Amino acid sequence: MRANKAVVPAAGLGTRFLPATKAQPKEMLPVVDKPAIHYIAEEVIASGIDDLLIVTGRGKRAIEDHFDRSIELEQLLEGNPSLRELQDLLDRLQVFYVRQGRPLGLGHAIACAERHVDQENFAVLLPDDLYLSDEPALAQLLAAAEELDAPVVAVREVQPQDVHRYGIIAPLPEGGLREGVHRVEDMVEKPDLEKAPSRLAVVGRYVLPPSIFGHLRATQPGAKGEIQLTDALRALCKERPVYAVEVRGERYDIGEPLGLLQAQIGFALVRADLGDGVRELLRSML
Ligand code: G1P
Repeated sequence: MRANKAVVPAAGLGTRFLPATKAQPKEMLPVVDKPAIHYIAEEVIASGIDDLLIVTGRGKRAIEDHFDRSIELEQLLEGNPSLRELQDLLDRLQVFYVRQGRPLGLGHAIACAERHVDQENFAVLLPDDLYLSDEPALAQLLAAAEELDAPVVAVREVQPQDVHRYGIIAPLPEGGLREGVHRVEDMVEKPDLEKAPSRLAVVGRYVLPPSIFGHLRATQPGAKGEIQLTDALRALCKERPVYAVEVRGERYDIGEPLGLLQAQIGFALVRADLGDGVRELLRSML
C-alpha cells in the first residue's frame, strides 16, 4: 500500500502551553530554532511525499505564513542560509490547508481531510510527536505499509504509568511477523492500566486507506467526549489486517512542557554547531 499524501492535524488549542499559546499556535513553538511543525514538514519530504495537508483552526494563521514566501525578508536578507533552507523546503513541498471549524477531536480533524485525500491512501503525522532517527519515522512506516500491503500505525512500548495517555493496541497472539511488527487485533483509546491490552502505544504516525473516512463518519464520540481516530481504526481492524510497527529512533512527546524541553536538548545535541556547547552547558548546570 503506497501513500502520496500526508495529513497533519494542527487545530488543537495547546492549553498545556498557556500562556505561550495564547496568541500563537503550539505547532509554532520553536525546537532550537525551527518551529515544531517545520520538522514534521521535513520528515514528510524526507519520506518521499510532496503533498501536505494541514488541518488548522482559529488562531493558526502563523502556520500558513511560515510555509509561505516572505518577499520582504528575502530582499532584506538576501542569501541568508536559514531563509534559503526554508525556500528549498517550500520548493519541494506543496502545502494545503483545511480548517476544522469545531474542536471535536482527532478523528474529526482527520475526517476534514477527506475531500483533499480523495480516495487515496494517505499518511498522518501528529505534530506532538517528533522523531530523531537515521531513517525518518514516516519512511519506516511507508516501507512497512508497502511491504505488508496494509494500513500501519507506529507503536512504542510505554511505561505503565503512561498507558492512560495513549491509544493502546491489542496485538494478535502469534500475529507478529518479525521483530517489531505486530498484527493489530483491536485498539483502545486512553485505557486505564488494568484494562489495557498491552503497553504498545500508538505514537503519532499512521498510513491509512481512504475507507477510514467511512469508519470516521460512523464513529460516535468516545474518550474525552471526542471523535477518536483510534475508534475508527478499531473498526478498520475488523475489516482488513492492520499492522503496528515499532519505529526505530528517538521520539519526543512535545505535547507537554517537559517533553518539549527534552526535544530542545535532543535536537540541539545532534547539531554540529550546537552539540558541544549544549554538552558543556548541561555539565556546568548540573
Ligand atoms: C493522540 C491519539 C492517541 C495516540 C497519541 C500519541 O492522543 O488519540 O491514540 O496514542 O495521540 O500519538 P493525544 O495525545 O492527542 O491525546
